[in-house]
Amino acid sequence: MKTIDADPKIAQAELQFLPLCVPEIRGNEWEYVKECLDTGWVSSVGSYVERFESMVAAQAGTKYAVATVNGTSALHIALLVAGVQPGDEVLVSTLTFIAPVNAIRYAGAWPVFIDAEPEHWQIDPARVSEFIERDCDWINGVLRNRHTGRRISAIVPVHILGHPVDMDPILAVARKYDLKVIEDSTEALGSTYRGKSPGSLGDIGCFSFNGNKIITTGGGGMIVTNREDWAKKAKYLTTQAKDDPIEYVHGEIGYNYRLVNVLAAIGCAQMEQLESYVAKKRKIADRYAHGLAGVAGIEFMKTADWAESTYWMYSILINPEPYGMNSRRLLKHLDSLKIQTRPLWQPGHLSPAHAQDQHISLPVAEDLVKRGLSLPCSVGLTEAEQDRVIDGICGAGH
Ligand SMILES: Cc1ncc(COP(=O)(O)O)c(C=O)c1O
Repeated sequence: MKTIDADPKIAQAELQFLPLCVPEIRGNEWEYVKECLDTGWVSSVGSYVERFESMVAAQAGTKYAVATVNGTSALHIALLVAGVQPGDEVLVSTLTFIAPVNAIRYAGAWPVFIDAEPEHWQIDPARVSEFIERDCDWINGVLRNRHTGRRISAIVPVHILGHPVDMDPILAVARKYDLKVIEDSTEALGSTYRGKSPGSLGDIGCFSFNGNKIITTGGGGMIVTNREDWAKKAKYLTTQAKDDPIEYVHGEIGYNYRLVNVLAAIGCAQMEQLESYVAKKRKIADRYAHGLAGVAGIEFMKTADWAESTYWMYSILINPEPYGMNSRRLLKHLDSLKIQTRPLWQPGHLSPAHAQDQHISLPVAEDLVKRGLSLPCSVGLTEAEQDRVIDGICGAGH
């Protein structure tokens, strides 16, 4: 890490680019990948795929895991396995990366966007109940949206930014109305909700291991569940639905979604490091919380007392009046210091791809997106680099 010297132009030129979140490769990745290459087991069959599945199932606390090419395909298959039908509606967090919403459309179903709660920024269970009570009819064991006439078959709570969703009230409402719960636990690997891992709380859970996740396979995903029949169905659908692999008989429309061994090998090496990565993320969060405490106009996500967050992504809220600029101006300012930050995602209900005719306002998510900014938080972030971010933020406001 270079210190700033007398000439600000030279100092600026010498500053290293500080990315938002990059992978940390420091364990057995090379060794395991080399073994795949040396033995020729590089494709969709191989011992690392099964080992990776066992490791993720153990972490999630589920009996079964099925590896997929990415998290989006895991969500697609989980929705199919859970019985979501074309024309159904699925309740989903509006404040999420778009993948689970896209997956709902791949299944031919329609997303119904639910607002976030303001404390922990997760899907708001009160808004789920409110929607069901205000806008739905429960007739002959089927929940229907009174306005569209469509069946509501599932809920996809997305645990965002490393913090779990408050699942108990979601599960209670789901049981009451026979809705399947498909957790998108992608951003919460390593966190706990009342001592249990996201992914194991609903009927089926999904993870992604893309490049910015707490552990990565480059690209990869996983479905986890306690239901043997669902796990079998997920494996069947992700491997082209082969009924007879010799005669090439396919009983259903299947998908080529199986993770390859060479990427699973990276996943195994990464999973070996998960505990230390989570510890590092928590340390980073703690340093940001201390370093930015007392800065006028900066707010933090609260951690619920029932949650152990991983702080996978460290995000803050900027209140323009007291701080002196809004979140997007701060983003540009930090960019000029070669510090990469990013807003939260455009909420699903405002997405041009998904808004359709739902002209609704979900004010909590909209406000969080307006004010939110995620800060560099790679596992490999040094204290000196983190100080650059803290100084950049402290120096930019009033
Ligand atoms: C919450 C969430 N779900 C799903 C995905 C999609 O995973 P993938 O990129 O592996 O398809 C991501 C991130 O990419 C995500 O953040």
